[in-house]
Amino acid sequence: MRAWGGAPRILRPGRVACDAPPRLAARLVLGARTPSRIVWQLAQRLPDRPRELVPALAEIPWEKLLGRHAFAVRASGRSPELRHSGHAARVVKDGVVARYRARGLARPEVRPRAPELLVDAQVAPGDVRVGIDLGGGSLHRRGTGRRGRAPLREDVAAGLALLADLAGRRLVVDPFCGTGTLLAEAVALAAGVPAGRDPRALPLARLGPFAGLDLAALGTEGPEPAGLAQVRGLGADDDPDAVREARATLARLGLAGRARVERTPVETLALPDDERGLVLTNPPWGRRLAATDVERAWAALGRLVRRRPGWTLAVVSGDPALTRRLGLRASRHHAVRIGAVGARLLIYEIDG
Ligand SMILES: C[S@@+](CC[C@H](N)C(=O)[O-])C[C@H]1O[C@@H](n2cnc3c(N)ncnc32)[C@H](O)[C@@H]1O
Repeated sequence: MRAWGGAPRILRPGRVACDAPPRLAARLVLGARTPSRIVWQLAQRLPDRPRELVPALAEIPWEKLLGRHAFAVRASGRSPELRHSGHAARVVKDGVVARYRARGLARPEVRPRAPELLVDAQVAPGDVRVGIDLGGGSLHRRGTGRRGRAPLREDVAAGLALLADLAGRRLVVDPFCGTGTLLAEAVALAAGVPAGRDPRALPLARLGPFAGLDLAALGTEGPEPAGLAQVRGLGADDDPDAVREARATLARLGLAGRARVERTPVETLALPDDERGLVLTNPPWGRRLAATDVERAWAALGRLVRRRPGWTLAVVSGDPALTRRLGLRASRHHAVRIGAVGARLLIYEIDG
């Protein structure tokens, strides 16, 4: 989000708040690849005592934001005054409704299921923050029509690519590319290609301050600066179905000209000549394959990069015994979650 000129604040993993002007906030929601939720922040440090919170919320011009749209409040966190999220959501809803009443306006419909606009409240002792969830829910579904057996979520894949650090890369290689999600997200991020969410599927256009924006045009604008436009991708997998799907993934995202996919087992894959390539991969962890095949594949991955000074290997591992098969010493690692599974993204800087 910083690359777009936004100043995000992390609310909790995957959920970010921004108080950017509407045009920038819209570009982020339409184009940012990693956040699963973006909350447009309206107020912070509001009192958490319900008697004080309701009039404080009634100061916010909700009628100009929500208009007549049906809304719901989603709250998280708690304080001694607001002990559970249901209570907090009710109090925030009361504050919104109080604003309409004070102005002599008919109250908008409160619709807990499938609201048209979602008010977000974060509660901490003495500090309630409210905003509007610009995506109306999780942003990870991008309509890329993925299938596949073990696909990574797109936002998780994009987050892994950012952690691996794409700066200065000309080539990204995924030797176990599966459905191609990780490769596609890395290439798209490096090249500054926006996520391309459909504004018609987002609540954004219903929000008063966003009404005058040309959302279709904003959705095609990538981050500034335009990233590393020259990056190329190479995917490989020994499963022909995976190769077909990875090619389809890249084509759907308009990346077919930037990345190619070959059917090659890691044991015989050769890395192209490139000074600072990045191998970014989520290898098999042995849930579907025989343990010996998996161990052999990890050892081959280690051999693939070992004699490539200047290259970086970034690998997702949920199993230290498999990690050891690489025969390499990690430079750093990050704790990550893949679905419900805790894992690590291990980074190996290969030197001569
Ligand atoms: C965990 S999946 C990768 C998932 C991928 N990141 C995605 O989002 O779809 C591991 C992939 O490694 C492939 N694979 C397993 N053994 C291999 C080998 N020896 N050489 C190349 N690919 C292999 C499997 O076919 C599978 O597609």
